[in-house]
Amino acid sequence: MTKILLPESEIPTRWYNIASDMPNRPQPVLHPGTGEPVGPDDLAPLFPMELILQEVSTDPEVAIPDEVLDIYRLWRPTPLYRAERLERAIGTKSRIFYKYEGVSPPGSHKPNTAVAQAHYNKAEGRSRLSTETGAGQWGSALAFACKLVGLECKVYMVKVSYEQKPFRRSLMHLWGSEVVASPSGETEAGRKVLAEHPDSPGSLGIAISEAVEDAASRDDTAYSLGSVLNHVLLHQTVIGQEAFKQMELAGAFPDTVIGCVGGGSNFAGLAFPFLREKMAGKEIDVLACEPAACPTLTRGPFAYDFGDTVGLTPLVPMHTLGHDFVPAPIHSGGLRYHGVAPLISQLVLDGMIRAEAYLQRDVFTSAVEFAGAEGIVPAPESAHAIHGAIGVARQADEAGVEKTILFNLSGHGHFDMAAYDNFIAGNLEDVALDEAEIESALKAIEGLPQPA
Ligand SMILES: Cc1ncc(COP(=O)(O)O)c(C=O)c1O
Repeated sequence: MTKILLPESEIPTRWYNIASDMPNRPQPVLHPGTGEPVGPDDLAPLFPMELILQEVSTDPEVAIPDEVLDIYRLWRPTPLYRAERLERAIGTKSRIFYKYEGVSPPGSHKPNTAVAQAHYNKAEGRSRLSTETGAGQWGSALAFACKLVGLECKVYMVKVSYEQKPFRRSLMHLWGSEVVASPSGETEAGRKVLAEHPDSPGSLGIAISEAVEDAASRDDTAYSLGSVLNHVLLHQTVIGQEAFKQMELAGAFPDTVIGCVGGGSNFAGLAFPFLREKMAGKEIDVLACEPAACPTLTRGPFAYDFGDTVGLTPLVPMHTLGHDFVPAPIHSGGLRYHGVAPLISQLVLDGMIRAEAYLQRDVFTSAVEFAGAEGIVPAPESAHAIHGAIGVARQADEAGVEKTILFNLSGHGHFDMAAYDNFIAGNLEDVALDEAEIESALKAIEGLPQPA
């Protein structure tokens, strides 16, 4: 069997909340002014109450509203593939499976939460959302969701991606959203960065500052984040729940589960339902893949830090490279973030998840190998998971064992062809950080509260 498909009736009707099963729950998020744990009232200007309650929920499951399921039906359940052609191409004895989230209308896993967020905001009376986007995948997912649900949307798009990916911008326009390059002159946060660094390529941290400021300054507007927060990771768990059933249909169970990590949402979406089994005693290797240019999990300390560059968000306990770290403009725009979700950071700390960091030319080599075998052109972000999966298969062959490997192919790369052109022409550069750069970036968190 190449494609393992589920009928529409098998779309999960509940999201899985990993907080209910974790040996150590994440430490509280702190108010940036007082250093005290934030309460629902602190977050109410930015988020609808239902999402705030999901953020702090310890219930094992949350019911998915019918209106959200109705939109999920446009592309869910997504297919699970057995990558037999890739297995043959790399000559492995292991079995490789991938869950393909690129079949959604915007082309990635991001609408799984965008639709839910748009729904709750509409239900609680907001008429407009503001957000940031890196590669444009999240921005186009929220633009799509807002269009279908009936909300206005403004997207602050990291400048380097705004310039590299004009067609993702077009997609957002087509779905009716306003898009500006970040840092922009439209917010105080953007003007502050531009005054110090007029040529700033932008970063997710800067774009978040702008979008948060936009939402905080208008009553009709809420802020929407595409990753990192507990409720975002919760919404993505439809991926892993479907994959779990599809692996059963294939008569297989993964030894290794793999995803790429920017803020952590697609990784969590696939991995959390499998981590539930791991926490119940099953042996599963869970691997998070990140770029060497932004090695948050592999080289960043676990610390309290701001989610944005300017320091408008609460302090979050997470692996971080420091909130004013601006990653080099690698082609995986969606992985250029200084922090990682607190839920994932805590599970890395507790030894439930391991992480690896890869150079971008190695990642593109694996992406082209995959496209040549399986046909699908992967998003550069997702290609980190492909590279991880090929690495695990090769290590298994060297050790003389056969593994079952499952990875998340979080999106397609149809809007990333300029990056592939650059790679094929030999114009892509590897970017790895030296220790001095990391030490210097971490000065930004000196003096902030320390996790217990
Ligand atoms: C296709 C794709 N995969 C992965 C990511 C990384 O985000 P996250 O770690 O939240 O899944 C992005 C972010 O834009 C993306 O577009």
